Amino acid sequence: MNNQSLDIATLVKTQKKGFALTQPFYLSDAVFEKDVDSFFYQDWQMAGHVSEIPQAGDYFLFEMMKESVIIVRGKDGTVHALANVCRHRGSRVCIEPRGNTKRFTCPYHAWAFNLDGSLFNARMLDEDHDRSKLGLKRVAVEVFHGLIYVSFSDAPASFDKLRADLDPVLAPFALERTKIAYRESYPVRANWKLLVENYNECYHCTAAHPEFARSHVTHMAAERVEPLNAEMQARSKLAGVPTDYFDCIGSARPKGSPDYACNRYSLFDGYLTGSEDGAPLAPLLGKVKAYDSGASDVYVGILNPMLIYCDHALIYRFIPVDKDTSIQEIIWLVHEDASEGTDYDLDRLKWLWDVTTIADKRIIEKNQEGVNSRFYEPGPFVSMEAYTQRFIEAYLTTLTNA
Ligand code: FES
Ligand SMILES: [Fe+2]
Repeated sequence: MNNQSLDIATLVKTQKKGFALTQPFYLSDAVFEKDVDSFFYQDWQMAGHVSEIPQAGDYFLFEMMKESVIIVRGKDGTVHALANVCRHRGSRVCIEPRGNTKRFTCPYHAWAFNLDGSLFNARMLDEDHDRSKLGLKRVAVEVFHGLIYVSFSDAPASFDKLRADLDPVLAPFALERTKIAYRESYPVRANWKLLVENYNECYHCTAAHPEFARSHVTHMAAERVEPLNAEMQARSKLAGVPTDYFDCIGSARPKGSPDYACNRYSLFDGYLTGSEDGAPLAPLLGKVKAYDSGASDVYVGILNPMLIYCDHALIYRFIPVDKDTSIQEIIWLVHEDASEGTDYDLDRLKWLWDVTTIADKRIIEKNQEGVNSRFYEPGPFVSMEAYTQRFIEAYLTTLTNA
């Protein structure tokens, strides 16, 4: 659907509340362009983990559609995010996806930049040019409990309130003292919104995820879940895991503040963590003293959910490739001292979310095929899809304000 004259404001206005989005939201090029500008280039994006760049000069590239950012640890230990666009004539400066270097030298005419982005050398450049103004452009970056977030925006939303509110929620798990045990990218032939919508509801879990539904309660009615959560809260207290969480992905996304939300819920009896048999998967994280048989859902912005068990954590990234294609990436984190083969078995660790994400890929692609049809007509949400509805309301509000 390449409808240049599509009026997005009218599309938003005529969207029926409580119903799935209409077809142009998924198929229109104009909507996708707006999505990119108002979501992907405005929100904070999870770029990586500090354990990927432990030493000065360690770097990796964070890439999203047209943008490429060098995430690098400077000489003094600071994490910098630098636009990977040469200040001479615009070439990519850094080509290797990760590595260690003293400085970045452009492959085109060899301008060289220090780890903090400042210009180190520009051959034959007239002395009358102010070299201090020719450093690589800096991209907004925040390091939060070991997770590195960047924003492509010129005026990114403040991270302060989120930082203050989520600090106590994340502190017990010491994610800054974890390492990446495994990461996997799952390409999905679908618009990015279908991935986010799917992640945010467990209405589909009973049918699509028998493995997940054995251990997780999120597909159950509230009456069934509340007693389990009450029992978990007593265990959580002993384990040193706070559960007096709040839930604040609002439908109106206040400008100037990224959204966030969190809650901790109990797993079914017999499951200490998200494993196939309920048994532990890895050493306990951070200051967690015992298994409370719970899992924390934490959102840093709408696009960066994570799931934290007592002994491992998962970070999700929804990465748009184009209007019809996305990547679902998952990063598995374990305690930094844990050794593979001794303290954890990689196949057991990744089993649940690998099998679940492969199933999700299948159902999301079938969802997209149906949405493409001339017979597609948005249907009503059920109450179990409340988080998906909130995503959609937040999405529509962002489009309106953008
Ligand atoms: S474009 Fe980088 S040195 Fe010329
Ligand atoms: Fe799913």
